[in-house]
Amino acid sequence: MKIGVLTSGGDAPGMNSAIRAIVRYGLSKNLEIIGIERGYQGLIEGDFRKLGRDDVSEIVQRGGTILHTARSKDFEKEEGILKAIENIKNQNIDGLIVIGGEGSLKGAFELYKRGIKVVGIPGSIDNDIWGTDFSIGFDTACNNVIDAINKIRDTAAAHERTFVIEVMGRECGYIAFVAGLVSGADIVLIPEVPIDFPYITKKLKERQKRNKGHNIIVVAEGVGSAYFIGKQIEDRIGIPTRIVVLGHIQRGGSPSVLDRTIATFMGVEAVKVLMNGFSGVMIGWQKNTTVSVPLEDVINNKKGVPSELYWEMEKIW
Ligand code: F6P
Repeated sequence: MKIGVLTSGGDAPGMNSAIRAIVRYGLSKNLEIIGIERGYQGLIEGDFRKLGRDDVSEIVQRGGTILHTARSKDFEKEEGILKAIENIKNQNIDGLIVIGGEGSLKGAFELYKRGIKVVGIPGSIDNDIWGTDFSIGFDTACNNVIDAINKIRDTAAAHERTFVIEVMGRECGYIAFVAGLVSGADIVLIPEVPIDFPYITKKLKERQKRNKGHNIIVVAEGVGSAYFIGKQIEDRIGIPTRIVVLGHIQRGGSPSVLDRTIATFMGVEAVKVLMNGFSGVMIGWQKNTTVSVPLEDVINNKKGVPSELYWEMEKIW
């Protein structure tokens, strides 16, 4: 049996752990593993290479993806999908493993609908994929954010300043919510909950009354620009702000234990599922173990921070 593997969309720390697990577990079962470069773009362009045991040495600790990744525009067109299918067939690939986020899993489902055996693995720092408690990369990204907030807090406290820190998450606020909650942020703003400036000013005034000189406000990028929010705070209550946009630092670095663990177990399970003749599923992580979730359900459901959970936890910050 020949299995292809690709990484697609935004890279996520831990993708390499999944690739390593797929290659090594697959080889132990006498499978041939083909790495496809630059996600769906490489699938269309036929950029394939056979992966051996040593090709995945020394990668488990590295962020990014050794297979490179892309957000392929060509794969959004029928012509591109058909070309990809032609290449899969010409290469005699029996099953494909797609590691990526929501858009990549949608692409996987398009291939599955057209008769290709596909299994997805959720890889995205956003943790916005339905059917899994965690997607690969989320934990490391949160650790990166926490590390940055710890450092910002030192200078914020020293100068008694208000910082607005923008983190990733266009439609889903999990990074802001979790990293803000456990790093001691004073206000957390996420796209799932409409922004409310009177609430922000009330919170900041309360803190002023309690003689809290510094404030840490964490905002997910989907809420709006941190510069705009900072300006609103300055205009409404006259507190000067400093802005930090964390950007792609969040997506880099050595993967955490959790990301390496889930990625490794998901990689092994994906190979097993294909060997057992199943496909059209994503390998998720629920209650500390792998689960198979139909790709159709994954792409037709939305995951975000539930607003009741947000308001429950708001009591803590
Ligand atoms: O989907 C992962 C993610 O990091 C989002 O949080 C962010 O909005 C987006 O990718 C950024 O994409 P790019 O690196 O292509 O600018």
